[in-house]
Amino acid sequence: MLSRYIPTNLIKNREDGVVCWSSPSNIALVKYWGKKEHQIPENQSISFTLNNCKTITKLSYFKNEKPSDTFSFQIFLDGEHKPDFEPKINTFFERIYTYLPFLKDFSFKIETENTFPHSSGIASSASGMSALALCLMSIEKQLSVNKSDFKVSGEESHKYFLEKASFLARLGSGSACRSLEGDIVVWGKHKEIKGSSDLFGVKYPNKVHDNFKNYQDTILLVDKGEKQVSSTIGHNLMHNHPFAKERFKQAEKNITKIKLILESGDLKAFIGLVESEALTLHAMMMTSMPYFILMKPNTLEIINKIWRFRKQSGLNICFTLDAGANVHILYPEIEAEKILNFIKTELVAYCQNDHYICDRVGFGAKLL
Ligand code: PMV
Repeated sequence: MLSRYIPTNLIKNREDGVVCWSSPSNIALVKYWGKKEHQIPENQSISFTLNNCKTITKLSYFKNEKPSDTFSFQIFLDGEHKPDFEPKINTFFERIYTYLPFLKDFSFKIETENTFPHSSGIASSASGMSALALCLMSIEKQLSVNKSDFKVSGEESHKYFLEKASFLARLGSGSACRSLEGDIVVWGKHKEIKGSSDLFGVKYPNKVHDNFKNYQDTILLVDKGEKQVSSTIGHNLMHNHPFAKERFKQAEKNITKIKLILESGDLKAFIGLVESEALTLHAMMMTSMPYFILMKPNTLEIINKIWRFRKQSGLNICFTLDAGANVHILYPEIEAEKILNFIKTELVAYCQNDHYICDRVGFGAKLL
């Protein structure tokens, strides 16, 4: 338990209210895969925050007439009541109750929508959990009497707000803690990244070369179905995994390497590291017990086409993958026209219903 996140002075006389946040998805460059108890990552990870793929969550709260032993909430996705989402949110509320002791004093209406289609195979847990955590932090802020945590100075209170929101989001879905800020976020304590922590994501504090400004991410939707392996099952596969220890060490080294790459702007080295990370993530799943292949034939077709095109054109196009079949294509803004043209003419045919999403690096969540 972390006492610094337990609010000490919340007002007794509570009122109803409403808050609304939008929060983006993110794409990891060095992947988080494997966790300890309480959502503590086994290895450090670093991600680009996205700009267009986001969740917008409106949270209305109504004071309960009588004290309650349970959490009271309803969830709506695009205006439709979704009771099947409730167990996940209930677990989230149980995990964060110590840090938000007002949760049982209110009934909540959670109204959420994503800017990307829900059946796209793009995980909405990072954007969804971070948006909800931010809404809850806005309520905490409104309920804080002496606001000792929030009052300090403008900058300090903003830091506390974001840090605790990221801490809470992590307890909902690990990678969600990397969605609050942009354009690059690190999660996991690393000796070379100042301020980094296993408990929350931090905005990458070091120098970033202009080559990585406004980096593009075109997401090819190869398989829009439900995830074959849930994140929870996937992370658990790293327990007793024969290569886990080496993998965690490699991720730590890759953070050191990417720090140098981000500073120097070395795009060739970036491509090598990012693609190797994606394939290592999938290799971990192929070599676990039980084992899984999460790529589809079209994932491989796309990868091979990218490699051929890169060789022919000399352009700095590369891919990364999440724990699924969809492909994120990353490239510098300056090469966007030629690469997007290649994607449209050569790759879109491998997507389900020709569906793809154009995104780019973004700057984090917004209060609406
Ligand atoms: O946040 P989770 O528990 O759904 O894990 C996500 C893990 C990957 O997306 C595969 C990698 C990452 O670092 O985002």
